[in-house]
Amino acid sequence: MKKIALTGIKPTGEPHIGNYLGAIQPALELAKTHDALYFIADYHALTSVKDKTLLKEQIYSLAATWLAAGLDPEKVTFYRQSDIPEVFELMWILSCMAPKGLLNRAHAYKAAIDVNTEDGTDPDSGIDCGLYYYPILMAADILLFNCHVVPVGQDQKQHLEITRDIAQSFNQTFGNVLTLPEPLIQDAVKTIPGIDGRKMSKSYKNEIPLYTTSKKLKKRINQIVTDSKDVNESKNPDKCNLFAIFSQFASADAIEKTRHQYLAGGLGYGELKSALFELVDAFLKEGRTRYFDLMADKKQIDIILAQGAEKARSIAKPLLENVRKAIGMQ
Ligand code: TRP
Repeated sequence: MKKIALTGIKPTGEPHIGNYLGAIQPALELAKTHDALYFIADYHALTSVKDKTLLKEQIYSLAATWLAAGLDPEKVTFYRQSDIPEVFELMWILSCMAPKGLLNRAHAYKAAIDVNTEDGTDPDSGIDCGLYYYPILMAADILLFNCHVVPVGQDQKQHLEITRDIAQSFNQTFGNVLTLPEPLIQDAVKTIPGIDGRKMSKSYKNEIPLYTTSKKLKKRINQIVTDSKDVNESKNPDKCNLFAIFSQFASADAIEKTRHQYLAGGLGYGELKSALFELVDAFLKEGRTRYFDLMADKKQIDIILAQGAEKARSIAKPLLENVRKAIGMQ
């Protein structure tokens, strides 16, 4: 029997190339050897996105991105978290297993408290309970499907630890009902720099968008920051984010050749940017067409997600029933 892989993606902004290389592509690879459940964590996004039009658009855009990137909904169970009511019942049950102190130590909550403390305002000012409960909702997402591995970025490691703690405490109290998941940390994201050389991230506003028009892609690639060495000067490939981004897309041969040209001098940044644009543009072409096609007919997306939710619920329902039995609710 194949192992089960599950992950959630938050619809909190336009997916960018760093997301693609660091999360989407590895998850699609993993789905080849696992029974995969991938979902849109829309209720997690509600902790930060409170504009309904924007949230709606971002949900569609995220779904279209994964489908355009090659997610096959026949093979991967692809759904929206908010379509699975069982998640929210399990969340309550798990919250009764979660020591409050565990949540007090969660990074995101602690960071929000720290900002307030530094500002001299009330520590809880502006913090809603959704942020506080975030790790429990995530534990419910995961434990509801008895999954074995959860591919996530380094920043989610603590959430997986919290999930395991809660599951353990449940199992100790009520018997072995829940499967303890293993995190599968994908840290490639760290090595993909944005246009300014820092890690590509929407919070730095340095991202290169994924499925956008050729024109916008070109403009963005031209904004990649370099030093001001002219064409003939020797350049250091290991200290250049243009070279680093190029290396994510070019063949091994092209990378080697460009490395030599950098060191020898004679290759200008402008020329390499053009080459990078051609590469990325060709690489994204097929997915972009599918993306725009889906976004122009969102009913297609609705149908796919509804089918995914049905499949997911057929797994979630019996599991929740076991949990209810274990705690004496039926
Ligand atoms: N918290 C995750 C993130 O910000 C998203 C997420 C929600 C998730 N539920 C999950 C990831 C369950 C893995 C498993 O990236």
